Amino acid sequence: MKASSLSFQAAVLFVIAGMIWGLVMAISDDHSAMPAHAHLNLLGWVSLFLFGIYYRLRASLERSRAAMTQVWLWIVGTVVQAVGVGLVTTGHDSGEPLAAGGSLVVLASMLLFAWLVFQGERADALLRSATAPAE
Ligand code: HEM
Repeated sequence: MKASSLSFQAAVLFVIAGMIWGLVMAISDDHSAMPAHAHLNLLGWVSLFLFGIYYRLRASLERSRAAMTQVWLWIVGTVVQAVGVGLVTTGHDSGEPLAAGGSLVVLASMLLFAWLVFQGERADALLRSATAPAE
């Protein structure tokens, strides 16, 4: 599978789960899990979809092991963090290690993504200067 396809498909599953969670909060009139809902939607839907767009634009990364690792780390970290934050904000302190661990995993994933972006943009700049017509 390509990194962008994994990102897009996981993102729509996350937003469906996040929207259902939002509806449950609204109907029950219990918004205590709001931070977890917000993180699930912003990490799982918005960020993951943006990763997918970048990988679709950078075709050379689509099948790279580093890009696939980055996306999988993000998916796992997002689930673990959302569960942990949800537990903590609903009064279960046992969720703290999950919230912390998931946060560190998504940070690691973002560092890997930053490295991929810097590498990709540098390679692109080199290619452009090499193929630019001589003056
Ligand atoms: C069916 C769809 C959704 C429902 C029913 C829903 C419901 C809710 C509810 C009830 C809250 C708590 C509001 C409060 O206590 O002040 C909330 C907060 C929030 N939601 Fe959603 N939501 C939905 C979709 C989304 C999506 C798609 C995103 C992001 C792309 C999102 C991002 C947020 C954020 C960031 C907050 C926190 C807002 C704040 O800090 O006041 N939600 N949502």
